[in-house]
Amino acid sequence: MKKTILITGSSTGIGKETAIYFANKGWNVAASMRNPSKAGNEFNHTNIKIIQVDVLNEQQIKAGIAECIDVFGGIDVVFNNAGYALVGAFEAMTDEQIRKQFDTNVFGVMNVTRAILPYFRGKNEGIIINTSSMGGLITFPLYSVYHGTKWALEGFMESLQFELKGKNIRIKNIEPGAIKTDFENSLTFVSNDDYKDYAPRVHQNMLDTYKTAPGADIVAKRVFEAANDSGSSLRYPVGGLAPVLLFLRRILPGSWFRSIVSMSTEK
Ligand SMILES: NC(=O)c1ccc[n+]([C@@H]2O[C@H](COP(=O)([O-])OP(=O)(O)OC[C@H]3O[C@@H](n4cnc5c(N)ncnc54)[C@H](OP(=O)(O)O)[C@@H]3O)[C@@H](O)[C@H]2O)c1
Repeated sequence: MKKTILITGSSTGIGKETAIYFANKGWNVAASMRNPSKAGNEFNHTNIKIIQVDVLNEQQIKAGIAECIDVFGGIDVVFNNAGYALVGAFEAMTDEQIRKQFDTNVFGVMNVTRAILPYFRGKNEGIIINTSSMGGLITFPLYSVYHGTKWALEGFMESLQFELKGKNIRIKNIEPGAIKTDFENSLTFVSNDDYKDYAPRVHQNMLDTYKTAPGADIVAKRVFEAANDSGSSLRYPVGGLAPVLLFLRRILPGSWFRSIVSMSTEK
């Protein structure tokens, strides 16, 4: 029987690539996006249904889940992918910007998760996959608030998997390194005079890592692997330097690891 995945933030990048990858693999795909008019021709696929969901809108989330079940007869996997980065000097960020960052990357994921759990509990199975980041386990300069959201996501999901295990609902976090998507364009960079000798230079160093970054196709494959993994693995690093950096972070003393980060990003 054909399986079904519901994806958030499918209009571009990792979400879009994953939607098309799963559809080509024969899955039903509910490709949700907050603005369906952004969907390009690639979404003209018999296995794809576009659904309007802003992850900050609980009514749209409920309606999107119901529509997916109605069209495809069920949901096997939810992929919490929508997100963006607020980057720059913390002191230059407004309260509104910080709250929007947490709303989207943390509360958006909680909204979708809360909405799907009764359905997954009802059928006594389900998989929740999240686009976390290697930045959910390690940090870089200028990403303090973004890291705050992804570390929150990692902690939230790692704890949640305990209470869901007995209900046969599994959690899987995808942890990409730098990946070439619209991420660079959708990020918000902020600075001020107090950080003018630091923030623009370091930000540019960070952006430079995207020049050689792999495309979203490798993340889509990793999501597919996670969706088909019958085991209980929680973390799936992928792309760029993610597997290497996460390994180094585990084996090196924290101060050594932070020195390596400083040397490579603050030069
Ligand atoms: N690219 C990287 O290097 C990288 C690395 C690690 C983790 N990630 C994570 O990967 C995920 C996807 O990012 P990406 O790289 O694919 O960037 P992207 O191309 O900018 O895609 C972000 C997606 O999130 C959607 N989105 C933002 N706010 C939303 C909301 N309130 N409701 C619904 N959708 C919303 C965007 O929709 P619109 O088109 O409507 O704006 C877009 O579809 C994010 O969670 C990001 O943190 C990315």
